[in-house]
Amino acid sequence: MTETRLYRFGSPDQTDSIRHQPQPEKSWNSSVNLQYYQTFNQTNFSLSLNPESSIYGLGQNIGPINRRGATYRLFNMQARPQTPDCRAVNGPYAFSIIKNKNSCQGILIDCPAEINFDCGFTKPDLLSICIESLDFDLYLIEGIDVKDILKEYTSLTGKSYLPPKWAFGFQQSRYSYMNAKEVQEIAQNFRSRQIPCDAIYLDIDYMEDYKVFTVDPEPFPNFANFTKEIQGQGFHLIPIIDPGVKIESGYSVYEEGVSKGYFCKNAEGQDYIAAVWPSLIHFPDFLRAEVREWWGNLYKFFTDLGISAFWNDMNEPEIFYSPDSIQQLKKRVTELDYTAWRDLDPIHYKINLDRFMLNSETFYPDFFHQTPTGLVPHQELHNLYGFKMLQAASEGLQKLNPNQRYFLISRSSMLGVNRLAGVWTGDNSSWWEHLKLNIQMVISLNLCGVLYSGSDIGGHCGNADEELLIRWTQLGAFLPLFRNHTEKSSRRQEPWAYSSTATEIIKDVITLRYALIDYLYSEFLKAREQNLPFIRPVFLEFAEAGLDEINDQFLCGASLMIAPVIEPNARHRTIILPEFNWLYWCASKHDQYNFQVLAPGIHRLLVALNQIPIFIKENHLILLTEPEQFQGEKIKSEAIIIGLINQESSFTFYYDDGVTINSEIQKIKFKVSLKNKILEIEQQLLPITAKPPYQNFNFMIYDLAGNQYYKQISLSLT
Ligand code: GLC
Repeated sequence: MTETRLYRFGSPDQTDSIRHQPQPEKSWNSSVNLQYYQTFNQTNFSLSLNPESSIYGLGQNIGPINRRGATYRLFNMQARPQTPDCRAVNGPYAFSIIKNKNSCQGILIDCPAEINFDCGFTKPDLLSICIESLDFDLYLIEGIDVKDILKEYTSLTGKSYLPPKWAFGFQQSRYSYMNAKEVQEIAQNFRSRQIPCDAIYLDIDYMEDYKVFTVDPEPFPNFANFTKEIQGQGFHLIPIIDPGVKIESGYSVYEEGVSKGYFCKNAEGQDYIAAVWPSLIHFPDFLRAEVREWWGNLYKFFTDLGISAFWNDMNEPEIFYSPDSIQQLKKRVTELDYTAWRDLDPIHYKINLDRFMLNSETFYPDFFHQTPTGLVPHQELHNLYGFKMLQAASEGLQKLNPNQRYFLISRSSMLGVNRLAGVWTGDNSSWWEHLKLNIQMVISLNLCGVLYSGSDIGGHCGNADEELLIRWTQLGAFLPLFRNHTEKSSRRQEPWAYSSTATEIIKDVITLRYALIDYLYSEFLKAREQNLPFIRPVFLEFAEAGLDEINDQFLCGASLMIAPVIEPNARHRTIILPEFNWLYWCASKHDQYNFQVLAPGIHRLLVALNQIPIFIKENHLILLTEPEQFQGEKIKSEAIIIGLINQESSFTFYYDDGVTINSEIQKIKFKVSLKNKILEIEQQLLPITAKPPYQNFNFMIYDLAGNQYYKQISLSLT
């Protein structure tokens, strides 16, 4: 039995994070195991932890998925580089799950201000939560297991964002492809090398002087024709949208924003000035509905060209400096003399002038949002900014293209974003440690309802060597957002940027992903329907003890376990296979089926550089199809269904039209049994209203002894 109670503290403003609010409790229930006290501006909760309790959730923080033993600052910040000591990063979700031996508790805090979690760092047996506010909603969810809590959490915050199906294809990015010719060459390379790809990103250099909702006509002459040409080759273009609006007279977005009073204010009530890529800018006050409506409509510039895919960046918001801080910096530099030690950062042995530049946080108290209760300092509402920018995009795009799914990913996020957009995990580095962190962050985001997520494959900052890019692409092939992206000064990182052997391996990995796309999409739809994560920690599916600490293998849906190689020079992988027999596929090419039956337990497997260890759970099935160069390229006629059957299994394949919001999910169900070495397949007809993507299903089934059985069935549709 799951039970949710809402406790209201003070009079919180509605954030829109929560979709379905229960009636607030009349008073604090003293039987609740949380203690609390308030100071004049903070609320502190504490909870005693059992020795065996684990803590999950909190969004995309740096560290293991079990948060116990560390502190986390829930305050949207672009951490660059993402080192283990960063306490605040993007994507803070004030949702934690405390998993005890026989019970579970979810704590969800709906509050846009900073929240600090001490998960047993100061006192190992105490969880302390400090909220920088007296006005917020606290939801306590009680249940037996983590799945109960997650289902309840989703019914509060709403179902995950559903991108168009092409978003499960490979995506190529770089900061930046500088002109139309370069983008065309990238497109041409994918197609001529037969490396599947569905999308190419446009980073900030496509804009004229970094002015949002413009295109620089010099590097991108005739943008409309260029867009058509790229789209004609089966690619989606994904331009970046930043919140900072360049201060430049004659620039329509700036002029309109100023004349209508749409920008955030400084303490004197004037438009606040900060600096980001375009130098001096104003920030739209996305917390206001009319500003969101205005901003959402600006997307028309792109939707008129058939572009409905975007990434929203710098939306914490990140601030490089302000006119004021530059003055202070100049002054401080001229003053520096032999007393510079006063500015010395003794830990890093450098003159510490960071407080004047590249430290967004110092600027947050300087600007204000207009709310129904008056001007409120940004600091107090900080975590909401990115969310509201996404709300503007989401509402705008739905109005501009009714009933069409849009593609939208964001760097900044919080509770509620899970309904509106996907998330990429910001500026990681080309480090092996970040390959592992990618798994941890995506699992944690999925636990917080952000099903469509991923990290920059190959790493954003620094230079990836070819082994790192290969291993990272192998991981990415099983995560929803599959995007290679890197920064301006990094070496080229496209799939063909290294040796010809590396290109071949990466091509095979991406092709394998395309063979699995229909299956992954089906499992994504299923996870979304069931209010469960798509990328799952191992402990979520098995009762066995000791699984809580697994940070380097994960499940896609309920049946497919992936154990990517995450260390340099490693040609072995140790894997824990819980409770069941598993069909092991040491995969390199999508059509080379070297399957092997493995018993439950710990295995150390030989894995060459071109191989990915994939495991299919006993009595579960996966589906493979002929890979395409981009989705929709071909009409497919058949699918292959593979699995290890002990006695009997059933498999339901989900599909929809992949593009419209109201598309009805279709289900085809098969019952597969192996009795006396005879394979039997029964198609259970469910009412379907749209034609299935293929008619023929080739079953390739293994028994526990590794014997193979084949059967083809053609769908009989009523
Ligand atoms: C930020 C983004 C990164 C992008 C860069 C330039 O650092 O996180 O992905 O490439 O800005 O727009």
